[in-house]
Amino acid sequence: MSITYDFTGRVALVTGGAGGMGRAISAAFAAAGASVVVADLSTEGGKETAAHIADAGGRAEFVAADVSQAADVERAVAVAVDQFGGLDAAVNAAAIETEQGRLHECDQAEFDRMIAVNLTSIFLSMKYELAAMLAQGRGGAIVNVASTSSYRPQPRQPAYTASKFGVLGITKQAAIDYAGDGIRINAICPGPIDTPMLRSAIARRGGTEADTIQRLSLIGRFGQPDEIAKAALWLCSDDASFTIGHALAVDGGYLAR
Ligand SMILES: NC(=O)c1ccc[n+]([C@@H]2O[C@H](COP(=O)([O-])OP(=O)(O)OC[C@H]3O[C@@H](n4cnc5c(N)ncnc54)[C@H](O)[C@@H]3O)[C@@H](O)[C@H]2O)c1
Repeated sequence: MSITYDFTGRVALVTGGAGGMGRAISAAFAAAGASVVVADLSTEGGKETAAHIADAGGRAEFVAADVSQAADVERAVAVAVDQFGGLDAAVNAAAIETEQGRLHECDQAEFDRMIAVNLTSIFLSMKYELAAMLAQGRGGAIVNVASTSSYRPQPRQPAYTASKFGVLGITKQAAIDYAGDGIRINAICPGPIDTPMLRSAIARRGGTEADTIQRLSLIGRFGQPDEIAKAALWLCSDDASFTIGHALAVDGGYLAR
């Protein structure tokens, strides 16, 4: 992936950085010169991401964190501030997608967990990221990873859909409250991106790659994690200085149809 943006001297935090899009975003920030905190529940994957960045000559620190837990998120932000000297950019990408039934078949524990990991995590992540950015007084940028499901639900995803509508709502609300502090908050709405989450969702629902592409992409292929990373870096860069409270679809045209 060619890196267009220069984040030299800046610090980035990526949740969900152990795999999928979060790994690509972490690597892209590091390649652009940022010091990166990689936060994830998966210690194995998170350490791999950090090692991959270090091997490429970058600077990264892995923090084991469950993003639904306030103390874990607070600790991840503290690592950025204490070890790397601040926080300039954050991309909140961690989430789960575990459903296969309709709403009446979804038990409350599953619903509650999905909301905790996909939506409460966005509240908690922004809460501590914003506090750090306000304290350092040099502005910042936050990107929350929502979904095309934030606009157009897919079948049999009641909790996931509720969580992703919520991600967009809290993104836009926070965007207006912090614009005056020089902190830009935006969302990305990915379409089908070739990650472990997408592959396991297809397998769980008994679908095929061809059917999924046919349904969800206008250009005959899945998106790649790097294509989300490029959008995330742009939104966090000074080139996006007038972009606030925006939901950027990176979806192979799906929402246009
Ligand atoms: N892949 C797609 O097609 C697609 C489409 C639309 C939106 N999204 C969204 O994009 C984001 C990234 O998804 P992905 O496809 O890369 O998924 P992925 O499953 O490949 O990666 C998600 C990462 O989040 C981590 N994670 C899960 N629960 C966690 C927790 N409680 N605390 C900390 N980390 C946790 C996982 O360990 C994993 O590393 C998610 O918000 C997802 O909802 C994905």
